[in-house]
Amino acid sequence: MVKKNFFPCFPLILWNSLLRWCGSQIYVPAHPLVKHWVAVLRNESTPPPVFKSAMAELGRILIYEASRDWLVTMTGQVQTPCGVADVEFVDPREPIKVVPILRAGLVLVEHVASVLPATQTYHLGFVRDEETLQPTLYLNKLPEKLPEHARVLVADPMLATGGTMIAAIEELIKRGIDHRLMRVVAAVAAPPALKKLSEKFPGLKVYAGIIDPELNDKGYIVPGLGDAGDRSFAT
Ligand code: URA
Repeated sequence: MVKKNFFPCFPLILWNSLLRWCGSQIYVPAHPLVKHWVAVLRNESTPPPVFKSAMAELGRILIYEASRDWLVTMTGQVQTPCGVADVEFVDPREPIKVVPILRAGLVLVEHVASVLPATQTYHLGFVRDEETLQPTLYLNKLPEKLPEHARVLVADPMLATGGTMIAAIEELIKRGIDHRLMRVVAAVAAPPALKKLSEKFPGLKVYAGIIDPELNDKGYIVPGLGDAGDRSFAT
């Protein structure tokens, strides 16, 4: 269960682990392991290798939750050692397009292949100007066009101002994808990002480990977990 009476100033409906925030749907899976990995990530004493593996574990759970009602399946029959069984399985012709936002998004999707049987990964690299907090795209491995029915998972651990995620989603929209076919995974999300995403992309689903109350004047989430990229890669 997520916290009750969260940000009562915003129009939220609390629904088990689903928050409806204006047009967006924000899921905070009510699993003790989500809380556990968030606790490890938050602790400033957690050393980088442990931080990185905690982020990857949290990503695995969030991706699992995000894919729950999302995968295209097909049916068939297989021969078991004892008979013939009707089976349903993930359609390998419909891989989920995974878009990690560099650097820290790479860590969040590190275990994606152990959750999703069919994926294709396209990297996007953004750098955030420390003064203006505006993102600049420095690496774009998206193809010019994506199949219009493609499902896209966009990963960035920290949804702070929302600027980077909005820019990433706009790159995908330019390539023919409807934002309602995208799902976002993040370790920590904050109100400014969630508000902007819900206003710009109604119906977008966001899966987060936790929602924190605010940003500091450098655009970092408070209490948050610090710089997710620096703490993962010790740089
Ligand atoms: N990016 C981070 O790594 N941490 C924050 O708190 C905000 C943006």
